[in-house]
Amino acid sequence: MTRSLSACVLALAMATAAPVDPPLDFDASEYSARRQKLMAQIPDGFAVIQGSLAGPLNNEFIQNNEFIYLCGVKLPRAVLIVDGIHKESLLLYSASEAYLRNEGLSLDLLRDPRGATGVEKYYPADELTAVLTKLAAQAKVIYTPLTPEGSPQEVATNSDWDGRLTREHQLAAMLRQRFPDIEVRDCTHTLWDLRRIKTPAEVDVLRKASQISVQAMREVMAEARVGQYEYEISALFEYVCKRRGCRRVFDYNVIISSAENHPYLHYYRHNRRLVDGDFLVVDSGGDYRDYDSDITISFPVNGTFSPRQREIYEACNAVSKACLLYYQPGVTAYEVGEQVRRKLRDQGYDLSRDAFTSLRYFKEGGVTHYVGLATHDAGGSDKPKDRPLRAGEVFASDVFAVFPKENLGVRIENIVLITETGCENLSAGLPREISEIEALMKGARK
Ligand code: GLY
Ligand code: MN
Repeated sequence: MTRSLSACVLALAMATAAPVDPPLDFDASEYSARRQKLMAQIPDGFAVIQGSLAGPLNNEFIQNNEFIYLCGVKLPRAVLIVDGIHKESLLLYSASEAYLRNEGLSLDLLRDPRGATGVEKYYPADELTAVLTKLAAQAKVIYTPLTPEGSPQEVATNSDWDGRLTREHQLAAMLRQRFPDIEVRDCTHTLWDLRRIKTPAEVDVLRKASQISVQAMREVMAEARVGQYEYEISALFEYVCKRRGCRRVFDYNVIISSAENHPYLHYYRHNRRLVDGDFLVVDSGGDYRDYDSDITISFPVNGTFSPRQREIYEACNAVSKACLLYYQPGVTAYEVGEQVRRKLRDQGYDLSRDAFTSLRYFKEGGVTHYVGLATHDAGGSDKPKDRPLRAGEVFASDVFAVFPKENLGVRIENIVLITETGCENLSAGLPREISEIEALMKGARK
């Protein structure tokens, strides 16, 4: 058999080319637009955002979310400066070819930093002092995020036995010392406010993360069996997510509660062997291109709801479904809760039953936390309940109840986008009705 020279060269190239991640998760213009929004809010100075140090997790480097949000570069010890005065950004990092190859990152980050990142100016990391000194000559304020999300805080500032400053507070202290005439101001909340309204590109990624998670949850329901260990279920969820393109699962591992563990809402030890009659709550989400989904399903491991499981699940599902009818811009979470209560009452539900009175987040219309680069995104686990919903917000719609004396818990959680006219359930496609769950489980057992 003969092959042309070019075919041989191509085959060799394909065999030897190491797979590399693109330098950025999104087009450079996406990050540039985000930086411009920040620039508009800091016309009197510039912002200094530190990248994380090397990550401890499986040796994989995890960049902090503020840094990822503004430039997408996942290199340790990088520094991004967003200059609100001159309306441009500067990126400082140094990386060896060996490091980039080891991380599977594009060598363009070394060969052509500006082309690869879209940031206007690039400097090697050791030029930080010179760069800051030049910029400080014209600035009134230096902004820096004091509590970046996803950056491990390994020091206990308030402890009598530690007292060290975090990297971020240390940077602020050094800036104040070296530039005493310039105010140094925390910009964490400015960044979180920007992150809370998702761009169309972010929504696409969150929809993808959610749809992968939906497929993984469907597999979990189909494959769960009496006699399995919880770790088998967690392995299946992770496998399906990774098989479909997720790098990892969300910030809380795969939460699986059953029996006596239902009250512990982030239980993830996966160490129970499932017995007939167990009711399972599985709560997780795939992380796709650094954006997390967060979905919860509840089902009986033997595939058939008992009367009590049915009663509680039906109440939870009725509330969860009704919430999706009322999410829209301009309405607060409490108002959604009120509308849902009215609707269910009109439909004839007896809301004084414990199946309803035990439901957490019923009053708040299921609105819990923002979702995005973090599972509990942009600063925490609670979205304000009295602030009107806004188009572009993505949050977890979550209703749950726990009955410790009955070894029972139920939880239904969806990921919801507020659109211009209402909402989109990004986690649509799950069997949520009891009949659908039982049919899926029965079909898988044939
Ligand atoms: N779904 C887990 C949590 O929101 O805490
Ligand atoms: Mn959640």
